[in-house]
Amino acid sequence: MSIEIDVLNGNASWPLAEPLLDAVWPDHVLERLSWRDVKWAHADLRVLIDAPDGSGLACHVGIYFRTVTWNGHKVHVGGIGGVATREDCRGRGYASIALDAAVATMRANEAVKFAVLFCEPHNHAFYEARGWHRFAGEIWCEQPGGRVRFEAMASFVLDIVRAPRQGAIDLCGLPW
Ligand SMILES: CC(C)(COP(=O)(O)OP(=O)(O)OC[C@H]1O[C@@H](n2cnc3c(N)ncnc32)[C@H](O)[C@@H]1OP(=O)(O)O)[C@@H](O)C(=O)NCCC(=O)NCCS
Repeated sequence: MSIEIDVLNGNASWPLAEPLLDAVWPDHVLERLSWRDVKWAHADLRVLIDAPDGSGLACHVGIYFRTVTWNGHKVHVGGIGGVATREDCRGRGYASIALDAAVATMRANEAVKFAVLFCEPHNHAFYEARGWHRFAGEIWCEQPGGRVRFEAMASFVLDIVRAPRQGAIDLCGLPW
């Protein structure tokens, strides 16, 4: 059975993504999470995978592009966020396929020097198994109240032509 993967404009595809993200993170789950009060950026692009049985969207990965600073130097990076697979579709490789498509999309942009994502402890192994490395430094970002240190989740990087492991990354905007 073939799997169809779409990479769509982030805003235009939000109505497709929203029901899946609401199902994976309903309010009663969200209110217990460390990142419940964070204001997030909107994805620039979204990878969407439909269930082959026609039952609708099975998996979502948001892609972000941003000029950040790393140790005070401007650098263009890719971001991954909103990685989610519908509960009844998990364990079939969809998130891995969608992540691969997201990383290929970021690599196709020659300006992108590395990629960044944020995740909860129970998902660290998932990303480490897919080549992501823990970033041990500080992350800074914007929130409605101003510039703050981002500590709601651990940060991971995927090396492209730079391999940051420590120092300070300022996202120069909302986190993803
Ligand atoms: C994490 C998540 C996206 C994985 O989606 P998925 O489509 O089931 O992932 P895949 O089928 O591509 O990969 C599953 C594989 O990862 C492993 N895996 C899944 N979650 C894992 C975790 N938290 N830690 C380590 N391994 C994990 C599975 O054992 C399986 O391994 P295998 O390929 O060796 O059999 C999905 O469980 C999910 O939506 N969770 C809730 C939302 C969430 O936490 N999203 C991540 C936000 S950063």
